[in-house]
Amino acid sequence: MSHLSLLLFFFCLFSFSKCAVQPSVCDRFEKEFKRIVDQAKDTGFKQSPCGCFDSESEDGLWIGCTGKTLPHLYDALKAFPESTHIDKIHVWDSSCNIVPSEFFQSFRPSSLIIERSFVSLIRQGTFVPVAFRLKSISLAVNQIKEIDPLLFSELQRLEKLDMSRNKLSALTQYALSTMKEVTELNLADNDISSIEDNAFIFLPKLKKLYLRGNKISTITNGTFKGLSDLEELDLSRNEIRSINWEAFSDMKKLKWLDLGTNRLTAVELRGLISLQRLLLNNNSIDTLKRISLRDLPVLNTLSLDRNQLTTIKENDFSSLSTSPLLSTLAIAANNISQISPRAFDSIGASLKVLSLQNNELKSLSYQGKPWVAPVRNLEKLLLSGNSINILKDGELPYSLKMLALDHNKLQQIDAYAFQALRLSHLYLNNNHLHHLPKGTFDPLTNDTLQVIDISFNDWQCLCGEEWLGEWLTRHSDKDIAIPKKNGCLALKGCEEKEQKEEESSAWITCIAGVLATVSVFILLAIAWLFMEEGKPRSLPPSKEYKGLGVNSDRLRLINDRENAEVTEKRNGSGSRRVRFNEQE
Ligand SMILES: *[C@@H]1O[C@H](CO)[C@@H](O)[C@H](O)[C@H]1NC(C)=O
Ligand SMILES: *[C@@H]1O[C@H](CO)[C@@H](O)[C@H](O)[C@H]1NC(C)=O
Ligand SMILES: *[C@@H]1O[C@H](CO)[C@@H](O)[C@H](O)[C@H]1NC(C)=O
Ligand SMILES: *[C@@H]1O[C@H](CO)[C@@H](O)[C@H](O)[C@H]1NC(C)=O
Repeated sequence: MSHLSLLLFFFCLFSFSKCAVQPSVCDRFEKEFKRIVDQAKDTGFKQSPCGCFDSESEDGLWIGCTGKTLPHLYDALKAFPESTHIDKIHVWDSSCNIVPSEFFQSFRPSSLIIERSFVSLIRQGTFVPVAFRLKSISLAVNQIKEIDPLLFSELQRLEKLDMSRNKLSALTQYALSTMKEVTELNLADNDISSIEDNAFIFLPKLKKLYLRGNKISTITNGTFKGLSDLEELDLSRNEIRSINWEAFSDMKKLKWLDLGTNRLTAVELRGLISLQRLLLNNNSIDTLKRISLRDLPVLNTLSLDRNQLTTIKENDFSSLSTSPLLSTLAIAANNISQISPRAFDSIGASLKVLSLQNNELKSLSYQGKPWVAPVRNLEKLLLSGNSINILKDGELPYSLKMLALDHNKLQQIDAYAFQALRLSHLYLNNNHLHHLPKGTFDPLTNDTLQVIDISFNDWQCLCGEEWLGEWLTRHSDKDIAIPKKNGCLALKGCEEKEQKEEESSAWITCIAGVLATVSVFILLAIAWLFMEEGKPRSLPPSKEYKGLGVNSDRLRLINDRENAEVTEKRNGSGSRRVRFNEQE
């Protein structure tokens, strides 16, 4: 009881001191808003148009207005006593087609956001009163067609400008001539189709430039002239066919270049000494012969997903030998059916992740030689959605930790395919496997294995070869998905059944012997019975394939586990959830 009151006391003290820092600034505004609302009641102005917020975060003291037309908004904002310190004005979902030049009469925020509010014009002189305060402007999702350089010329401290999702159609050198302090410019999702040479020459401090989702088709050697501090450039979702690769040659600090979803057929980048991430996905590249990536010493991620590559040949990545840190290579969703055994020679030492899913690969070897085994430090290999039908001994690199071979056409896995591997994740689901040689999973040890999924295969029970079910039970403290249909794995029936039948036949023989001495009739009758009983023995169950559906005991065995999501108590290892259901 006394603890509680003490706690309450401190809480009150704390909240009081918090308010005391900004004593009722917001209260004053709210009062003023209310007065305006009261005054304007007859005009149907029913609610306070804006709210005042004093947030603990970096936003500081800010005003938010929504759902208003400009006159209302403007009246409300006029209520602010001049020279009050406001950090941010945020207007959204309002209707202010034209921002009047008196907008900043009574307050001086450092951040202005007017979003989704049909702004098409900002009157000249609007920013004059805040010329030395405003650092960040967002005008995203409006109707602005042009950047008026005179408007921004007054802004001495502007660092961040967001004009994404407007109606800009061109960028001229003149338009961007007055933003010399800007470090981040977002012009994504406009209709920009032309960029004048030297358009960015007056933005020497620019670090991030977002031009994705426009209609740019050509990049010349002058397009990005002067952007020598640039670190991120997003040109994705344009219609770029033609690039003069000289355009990037000054960008010695560029870390991140996204050219995804364009119409590129060739790439020739060199000398970007800071480039870490290069995205070329979803273009029209049909041969790696036309990809030259030289002297990119810190490149670590390259994506070529969703192109039209069909083969990877011996020297296709030779230019990348100057990128010793390349660790992730993505070539998914192409049409690759052939990979040379020496394809990755020049990048194999650094490669850790290789993504090749959704291609047309049929095998991990080409002309009898494995092509991925030589990638000696590879940790993740993603091959989902190919047409691989066999996994042979020695086709995988020893360093591999994760192997995704799901959604292929696997019918056979050789007994030593996983030999000397220390896999933690193995996905073999959605294949055509019906049986695995004994010992296939022996290298998958308890201490490394975390996930194995063998569901959605054509598993069949071959009596005498039923090791897989036992193996799965032994490892059931792992995240295991085993099938509930299409076969049987947790098979315990074969041995017991054989024993029982041996016992019963011995018994019947014994009785028959005793009865034979008593009566011929009875003997004949017994003999008749014996023949009936003996019939099944002519087809020993050990030679039979049995489906899971046949034996209700086995069915229940799996169902029980599935329903209960068994948490097995294993010595020491605690209790991990065992997943027996199939993955969708
Ligand atoms: C751009 O390339 C053209 C030839 O395509 C050349 O004449 C011009 O000098 C180059 N300009 C710059 C700035 O490098
Ligand atoms: C790939 O590009 C096409 C247009 O070329 C586009 O429609 C599609 O959405 C893009 N796909 C992805 C995944 O970006
Ligand atoms: C993939 O390549 C094969 C030839 O290897 C070709 O027949 C097929 O049309 C290609 N498919 C696509 C979608 O490009
Ligand atoms: C895995 O661990 C369980 C208990 O922790 C043990 O019963 C089982 O034999 C182990 N399996 C292997 C293959 O070491």
